[in-house]
This record gives sequence, C-alpha cells and structure tokens, in this order.
Amino acid sequence: MKKDTKFEDLFERGLETLYEAETQILAALPKMMAAASSEELAGAFSSHLEETRQHVSRLETIFEQMGEEPRGRESEGLRGLLADGDTIIADMEKSSTLDVGLATGARKVEHWEMVAYESMCAMAEMLGQHDAFDLLQETLEEENEADETLAQMVESILIGDTTEEEEEIEEVVEETEVEEL
Ligand SMILES: [Fe+2]
Repeated sequence: MKKDTKFEDLFERGLETLYEAETQILAALPKMMAAASSEELAGAFSSHLEETRQHVSRLETIFEQMGEEPRGRESEGLRGLLADGDTIIADMEKSSTLDVGLATGARKVEHWEMVAYESMCAMAEMLGQHDAFDLLQETLEEENEADETLAQMVESILIGDTTEEEEEIEEVVEETEVEEL
C-alpha cells in the first residue's frame, strides 16, 4: 500500500534525504581538498567543509524540534554525483584541468542541494514551521554562496583573473561588436 501522501511526510522525507546527503558530502570534501592543485580551490572546499558541519547540525536541530531522532534516507542521485567526483579523481592527475572538473562536480552537488533546500523552505513556510524555515534558509544561502565561489574559480582558471580595468575594456569591446552587427 502506498503511503506518505501529506506534505508533512514529504517534508520529513526531504529532511532525511538532506541529512544523509550532508553526511556523505562531509566525507567527500576532504578527498576533494586533497585532490585540488589550486590552494584557493582547496581553501574553498575546506571552508565549505566547516559550513557543511553546520548544515548537519541545523538538520539535527530541526529533527529535535519535531521530536524525531535524526535519520538518513539514501538518494541515488546524490550518491551518483559524488561517485562521479571519485571517478574523476581516480582518472586524472593533479592539475588545473582536474581542478575545473572537481569544481564543476562540486557545483552539480550544490545545485542538487539548492533545489532541495528551496523546496524544503517553501514547505516549512507552508506548514508554519518558522524555526525550521530560518535554519533551512541559512543553509540555502551558504549553498548559493559556495556555488558562486566555485563558479568564479572555474572562470578564473579557464579565462584568468581579470582586473576591473580589463573588464571595462572587455565590456566596451563587446558593446562595439554588438553595434557592428
Ligand atoms: Fe550543504
């Protein structure tokens, strides 16, 4: 017989899935740190590791507030994304190429999390779970920031760091090109 038809149930499933996901991400980040050749990228993984500890403990707080024991629920999708990260580490030498692969893989995980947290925030709001909403929102913001940082790193590895002056010149060039079309 099918069950879990209420939003309360879906919210709880989501919480369990995120709890398992964050725990797996906590285990994956040190491997990604060790595989990164860029100190900046290793630093970004390291600070996200600290944040992820907070993400786990925020989820534990929500479970507590609901009078539940924290428990995980496996997501095959997330496990697959993390396995892709392991594969690329196993296949490639330490290099800026691997760095781009690692950062891109990490961004895929971030996006998975961002969608999950966005949905959880909306459900928490609808269910009137204000404390849970605040905690989930805090984590969502950190996931968004981590994704942006990684995106900038990929860009700076592939395109190189540009100064503001160079960016202005690039904009002028782009505008001129558009006018010429
Ligand atoms: Fe997270």
